[in-house]
Formats: sequence, structure tokens, C-alpha cells
Amino acid sequence: MAREVNAANLRVSAAPSPTAQQRVDRALYRAQQYAIATPIALVRRALRMVTREPAPDPDAVAALQTRYADLLARDLANVEAGLYPRALLFQIPFGSYARALPSFALDVPRVIRRVVARNFRDLPADVDVARYPGYFRRNFHWQTDGYLSRRSAELYDVAVELLFGGTNDVMRRQVIPPISRHLAGTGAYDARLLDVACGTGRTLAQIALAHPRLRLTGLDLSPYYLQVARRVLADVTDVSLVADNAERVPFRSNHFDVVTSVYLFHELPRATRRTVLGEMHRVLRPGGLVVIADSAQLAESGALAFFLGRFAADFHEPFYRDYVEDDLAVALAEAGFRVESVEPQFVAKVVVARKVARSPVPISRGRATARPRARRTKR
Ligand SMILES: C[S@@+](CC[C@H](N)C(=O)[O-])C[C@H]1O[C@@H](n2cnc3c(N)ncnc32)[C@H](O)[C@@H]1O
Repeated sequence: MAREVNAANLRVSAAPSPTAQQRVDRALYRAQQYAIATPIALVRRALRMVTREPAPDPDAVAALQTRYADLLARDLANVEAGLYPRALLFQIPFGSYARALPSFALDVPRVIRRVVARNFRDLPADVDVARYPGYFRRNFHWQTDGYLSRRSAELYDVAVELLFGGTNDVMRRQVIPPISRHLAGTGAYDARLLDVACGTGRTLAQIALAHPRLRLTGLDLSPYYLQVARRVLADVTDVSLVADNAERVPFRSNHFDVVTSVYLFHELPRATRRTVLGEMHRVLRPGGLVVIADSAQLAESGALAFFLGRFAADFHEPFYRDYVEDDLAVALAEAGFRVESVEPQFVAKVVVARKVARSPVPISRGRATARPRARRTKR
């Protein structure tokens, strides 16, 4: 069981020289990450040559490389500061991903056919799609069955780890440090946490390892992704999974102490983003913490504009172009949160905010006018 993060082990002053264990961990962890990222980068380069795709903008590549190295350094530093356990550094389920690879490879021709035909309405015939909102009834990322089958859910995590060169779980767990600090401040380690759009449960699993006494709830629109989440979270004692729509969260107001969400907002139309933020605000208690990790945006990551544009062009992500211009920090402030920090994390960002008793946003002529006063780190 992971060491519980508490106020005492969060007090880190001048960086002490690393212990022998920390030196070993740093070397093993970097070896693991580069062993995943290097072959993926080589395959991508070969594919670019075959398809004669133009080389990426060198400044954007340099920015990406710096941010990759920063993410790994941050992950190690978080462990060394006691913000989450070292076990998280080495939790990639290589065995289950290796077992999924043959199915993933067999699926690639189906994805290519869909891309060539620009067919993003290729959903399973046996699913009643009328149950789901219009924006959701599509093959996001051109993936087979969209989010509407167990087969899709079984391939999702290995696919995104390949896409992000082994950093997907690393970016997901960057929601944990603000939670650790919040719990250390309140002392309420058995707080209620809701993860909105929890998917296959990999964020909740990592949060549970860091904070085993939390009472966890995962909500997702896809019952099929929750089937996989049940397996991923099989060892977690206190977790409930609910198949429902984040536009109408089925919990009473002020119920949760912490609300998280990972990689949801870039897949929502702008109006739905606002509705979901309103629901997150409603179910969070005053003083409670919201932590959102999602794709980088132009507001803090202009240096990645080339790659953000490519992602919108290459994957079926119809709301992404609007998302990158719709600063999450501003949207959170408009929803009544007080934004505390915005931090770039490789190709993602983490926004931390708090629900205040009364909205800090002055409303003038029906529009929110205040910009969030957040600590913002440009890289
Ligand atoms: C890109 S995936 C991210 C999943 C997960 N958070 C992760 O880190 O892998 C987006 C998820 O949002 C869910 N989703 C989309 N719209 C939703 C809504 N209105 N309510 C609840 N879940 C939704 C999808 O079913 C899918 O699991």
C-alpha cells in the first residue's frame, strides 16, 4: 500500500542531494520512458518519409523536446517531494498492452479505410445511439466503434500510450499533486472525489494508489469504457462507477470535496464545455478543489501551435480547433471558480481552481468580464 501523503512529508525546502534509491529510480525511469519513446519516434519519422509529409517546424520540435524532458523531471520531482508514490513511475501495464497489440494491429486497416472514406459515423449497429448526445455519436480519433463498444475500450489505452510516446499516464497523474496539497491542508484523506469522464479508470487508479482512503466516484457516458474501468479498478476498495452524462451529473449539489477531469473538454462543443463546468461547480462543495488536465491550448502553449494544428487535422476531433482557443482558465472563472494555477505539462496542461462561496466574477451586461488571476507559466 502506498505511503499516505501528509503535511509533514510535503515540506520540502532546499533540495537535498539524491539518495542512492532516488539515483537508481531516476536512471530506471528515464530508461523506461526513452525505451518507449525512441522506437515510436523512429516509426513516425519513417512514416513521414513514406507519405512525403513535410517535416515539422524545428522551433516547435525543440519546444516539444524541452517539454518532454520537463515532464519526466517533474514526474520524478513529484515522487521525491512525496506528492505521489514511486510505484506510479513504474506502473505501465506492459503485459496487458502487449496482449492488446495484435488486436490493435488488426484494427489499423479498418481505421485507415474510415479515414480514407472520411466516415466518422461508423458506429456499432446494435447500440441505440439515440441515447447519446449528437456530438458524441462519432468515431473520435477515427477509432473503431467510437466510444461505443468494449472492443474500443480494450484498445484505447494502448493506442493513446503509443500516440503520446508513453507519457499519457504521466500527464494524467499530474492532477495528483494539487490533490495531495489540498488533502494535506484539510487533513480529510477520506474526502469524496469525482472524476468526470473517467474512461477506463486509469486516472482514478493512480489517484487511489496515492490516496487509498479517498471515496472515489467515476462518471462516464460510455458504459463500455466503464466495463474496462471495473477491471482496472478491481483492487480499489472504495470506488463507484456511474454511466451517465456530465451535462446532468446525477449527484446532489455540494456533494464532492474534489472534482477532476482528464482529456474531456477538447472533445466537447463550446456550449457543452460550459454546461459541464457548471455541473462540476454545482456538485463541488464551497472551498472544494477542481483539477482539470487536458490538451495544451494556445493561451499558454503558443510554441506548440504547429502540433496543435496537426492534431486537429490528422485525427477526427471536430471541436479541437475551437478548444485550443477557448482558454480553460477563463472558462473556469466564468463558471464561478477561482483559478489558482495553470501549468503546461508536455502536450497537456493542468488547471487548478477552487469553488468559492460567491462567484468572484463581476457580471456586466450579462457577460463575465474578469480574467482569472492565475499563476501562469509560459514555456
Ligand atoms: C478522451 S477520453 C478520456 C477518458 C479518460 N479521462 C482518460 O484519461 O483516458 C474522453 C471520455 O469522455 C467521455 N465523455 C464524453 N462526453 C461525455 C459526457 N457528456 N459525459 C460523460 N462522459 C463523457 C467519453 O466516453 C470518453 O470516455
